[in-house]
Amino acid sequence: MSSLLHGPDDPLWYKDAIFYEVHVRSFFDSDGDGIGDFRGLTEKLDYLEDLGVTTLWLLPFYPSPLKDDGYDISDYTGVHPSYGTLADFRAFIKEAHRRGLRVVTELVLNHTSDQHPWFQRARRAPAGDPARDWYVWSSTPERYRDVRVIFKDFEPSNWTWDPVAQAYYWHRFYAHQPDLNFENPQVHQAILSAADFWLAEGVDGFRLDAIPYLYEREGTACENLPETHEFLRTLRAHIDRSFPNRMLLAEANQWPEDASAYFGKGDECHMAFHFPIMTRLFLAVHMEDRYPMVDILGQTPVLPDSAQWALFLRNHDELTLEMVTDQERDYMYRVYAQDRAARINLGIRRRLAPLLQNNRKKMELLNALLFSLPGTPVIYYGDEIGMGDNIFLGDRNGVRTPMQWSGDRNAGFSRSNAQRLYLPVVVDPEYHYEAVNVDAQQGNPQSLLWWTKRLLALSRRFKAFGRGTFELLTPENRKVLAFVRRYQDEMILVVANLSRFAQYVELDLGFAKGRTPIELFGRSDFPRIGEAPYLLTLGPHGFYWFSLEPAREAPRVTTGGDATRQVEVGGDWKGIFSGRARSALELALLDYLKTQGWFAGRARSLRGFRIAETVPLPLEGTEAALVFAFVDYDEGEPEIYSVPVSFVSQDRSEKVRKESREEVILGLRVRRTSDLVEGILMNALADDAFLRAWIRLLPEGTALGLPSGRISAGSIGGADPRKLSGEELFPAVLQKAEPGDSTLGLHGHWAFTWYRRVQDGVHPEIEVARVLAGLAGDIPVPRWAGTWELSRRGREPITLASIRESAPDARRALDQTLDELGRYFEAVRSSPPAVEPELPLVGDEAPPTRWTNDVRSHLSIS
Ligand code: NOJ
Repeated sequence: MSSLLHGPDDPLWYKDAIFYEVHVRSFFDSDGDGIGDFRGLTEKLDYLEDLGVTTLWLLPFYPSPLKDDGYDISDYTGVHPSYGTLADFRAFIKEAHRRGLRVVTELVLNHTSDQHPWFQRARRAPAGDPARDWYVWSSTPERYRDVRVIFKDFEPSNWTWDPVAQAYYWHRFYAHQPDLNFENPQVHQAILSAADFWLAEGVDGFRLDAIPYLYEREGTACENLPETHEFLRTLRAHIDRSFPNRMLLAEANQWPEDASAYFGKGDECHMAFHFPIMTRLFLAVHMEDRYPMVDILGQTPVLPDSAQWALFLRNHDELTLEMVTDQERDYMYRVYAQDRAARINLGIRRRLAPLLQNNRKKMELLNALLFSLPGTPVIYYGDEIGMGDNIFLGDRNGVRTPMQWSGDRNAGFSRSNAQRLYLPVVVDPEYHYEAVNVDAQQGNPQSLLWWTKRLLALSRRFKAFGRGTFELLTPENRKVLAFVRRYQDEMILVVANLSRFAQYVELDLGFAKGRTPIELFGRSDFPRIGEAPYLLTLGPHGFYWFSLEPAREAPRVTTGGDATRQVEVGGDWKGIFSGRARSALELALLDYLKTQGWFAGRARSLRGFRIAETVPLPLEGTEAALVFAFVDYDEGEPEIYSVPVSFVSQDRSEKVRKESREEVILGLRVRRTSDLVEGILMNALADDAFLRAWIRLLPEGTALGLPSGRISAGSIGGADPRKLSGEELFPAVLQKAEPGDSTLGLHGHWAFTWYRRVQDGVHPEIEVARVLAGLAGDIPVPRWAGTWELSRRGREPITLASIRESAPDARRALDQTLDELGRYFEAVRSSPPAVEPELPLVGDEAPPTRWTNDVRSHLSIS
């Protein structure tokens, strides 16, 4: 469903993205060897799509001795055999792209594994030989003495003696990760080739690991040197030349000023992590004071237009305490890592939930800030369900344990013997996988997983979060952090209570006088902003996201003589789909939908409604379009409805107004330079001209070309579609409208169904019809003549409509089957165990999965 909501391709796509950081080996094991793999990850793409993330960032999956979880690469252009093959990677990326998900991978360019053939060759080459020059050698460990050691718990120095080379080699991380020598142009070439290789495979961007450390220079900290920036400009220009719309993300754990240098003048990286903001979020929420945030935001420079911060709460590493003051570090250790086992290097190896003592309100608060501060949010796998960690596993492995899918063996991650797992699953009583898992949370709409899904869906509706300006408000109450994000027409106010107690705050919202704050989660109107300071109260760790909406202007919508709304547009009737007219149409469409039997939302509490997309239908002799309406509810999943509409004018519109007023959605006045055309926008299925042109596509086997795809009508076996060409078919008669679709009778012989509720993929009814059409014999089911399918590039096809013969007491095959199955299950329930009633399925064919799922949910069986 969500594929309808993806925006168009855009070089700045990363600004609206939601990243999900995932390690192939931790996500899902498809072959039962205890290690996650690409096939497993591919199987779980549905989950990720449903979660609402848009970009997957994969940790290194290349051949490696895995002494630093793959950041020790021994071959830049392969796939580690434990994770699958290059073919598996290709299948994965294809599937991800098909769903509109982008893929970002790691370019680890500062260092390799000591097992890389380049290093093996270098250490054996005589001093002075070009092969040796690929790494940084010295006869003394005294050079670059001022340079800090990053992995200070493991390495005493950045130099290690190599007995083969009879020299010291330089490494900023583990001793088994020698640094490449960027003074050597051959190294540049090798890294550019590795980048080309993966970009040609379709990856959408790279995280540039450990980017500040590429060069060394005596007397400096050997970080952020000008030569490094120069190389980045070369890399960027090289990539831009051959691969449009790709993205570079700098991993530079630096103060904002140094980190922002990695954007260059828009000619280096597109994105960079903002490490210090992450630490300040944890500080602020524990100190119950916005000061740390205000301070770091004040130090964050204005960025070039194309630049974007990547924000995160947790990732696969320790919560780094490098970019804080000594006092702040002591404080962080004291409050977040009392258990010394949680400390590693200069940081804290914990996941989000344990860091926040499993406090759901705090998790929601920090996530709400993550998604509304300026930048692109990055979620770490498992944090969406509040996974725990295991600080006793060594290094940073405690936050890299298997994803918890269910309460089954190995948390549903793998079928293997538990002892074969690459790391044990979390069994800490508070975070035990039997309680904290995807399955359990999917089944509970109040779970953190569902809350996260709602947060993501909401944030994706507003570009202001990814692209908007940022203005900090400074209310007197320092326990409240408040800011405004603006982008084009959008104005979002975020107010967050950092305290564990209720607070009130008075905000100066003079800049938005006259506007009405609409709370976005519940769509409730708050009092309009006037002259006085705006008073708000917030519960413990509570937060608000408000859209500050302008007062509605003088009525742009008038009412026609027959009480239908009327809108005026300029130029062409399709003007109704843009600007203010579109908002008027949204209101009218919602009113119209509420009168329709097929609109399942009639009986539910609506949270939001909007037109997600419009597709003009170039059908001969008609002026029609397909409107996809997005409906969000207070409870449960949102839905998308497909509503074909026609614009009819003059006499025809008068006739409809008089005879079938209920089919009118909106009155439309189209003002052209010299004249004014009066007409209506109506339900296209009640417009004979539309229906004729639409049905005709089937016997003629014609496809309707659209700017971004096509609508094809085709037979599915069964009845001959050529019988559908006669005039006698019309007029059509509405047979029934039931939740989900509406059915029209044609000539008493055909039943034409429009599938109102949109589902990606082939409609289950059509799947059933195909199976049945393939079975010989006298099965008492209607015969289908064909279907109409909408297919668009990079998206799942959608079945729009179908037509079948209608038997005298015509009921749909699905209804009949459901009835039969209902009777069958009743019989099973009421039979003594020994008697097994015969299952009313024909042949050996297994029913399609989606169909069985429908049946199951219909019968409320699990
Ligand atoms: C940064 C990565 O995030 C970390 O996991 C790794 O150990 C170092 N770079 C060295 O590659």
